[in-house]
Amino acid sequence: MKALGIDVGGSGIKGAIVDLNRGELVTDRIRYVTPKHARPRAVALKIAKIASKLEWRGEIGVGFPAAIKNNVALSASNIAQSWIGTDAGEVISKATGSKVTLLNDADAAAIAEFEYGGQKDTQGLVIFITIGTGLGTAFINNGVLVPNLELGHLYLKNKGDAEWYASNAARKRNNHSWKVWARRFNHYLDAMESLFQPDQFVIGGGVSKRPELFMEYISVNTPIRMAALKNEAGIIGAAMAARGLKRH
Ligand code: BGC
Repeated sequence: MKALGIDVGGSGIKGAIVDLNRGELVTDRIRYVTPKHARPRAVALKIAKIASKLEWRGEIGVGFPAAIKNNVALSASNIAQSWIGTDAGEVISKATGSKVTLLNDADAAAIAEFEYGGQKDTQGLVIFITIGTGLGTAFINNGVLVPNLELGHLYLKNKGDAEWYASNAARKRNNHSWKVWARRFNHYLDAMESLFQPDQFVIGGGVSKRPELFMEYISVNTPIRMAALKNEAGIIGAAMAARGLKRH
């Protein structure tokens, strides 16, 4: 069983065809820079470009940086505000001619990691945090996804929005060393730990490929694992959603 998985991010739109029996990409991963302002039609056209480059005509799943219900975006942080209330599924369907299913990008990464990243039997509360332009969060509690959490926007006392303070984009914007950024991220993990008492944190996104850069500065009590699927998890989880393989 295959589907096209697309991961829409604040800086790039990535896609590949995924074999869902193995949880692996079976084509090259195509990436385009996210169009300036990331407005609906411009983003949909990039997705159509990926589908046509991969000669894909079946179902498409899209991991999207917003809370999503029934394919409609309910929030917008690193994308145009005009997504809010837009039936994103319809806009992308129109551009691609395919059936489209959307879900939050961190939820997509979390379900893929759980299914194919060796987490299948993990009990208790696992908190996934994807670090990129935004801070994406997902809870999987005893194997069941709690969708659309948006805890990357947790308000940290005296620091403000967690994403603005501790995302990878914040590190770049502030020109911080990994040590300075890691202390900020640790502050965020600390807040998440005291609020939710998870059994495990899983870190995904680009930085999960280089734990040696920051893990020595992290000092929370909860065990932390880097995502096994690295930054392909979002694409794989989106493809799962296209085929109705969500965890709920
Ligand atoms: C968005 C989330 C998204 C995260 C990672 C945040 O700004 O609000 O919906 O999961 O970025 O892309």
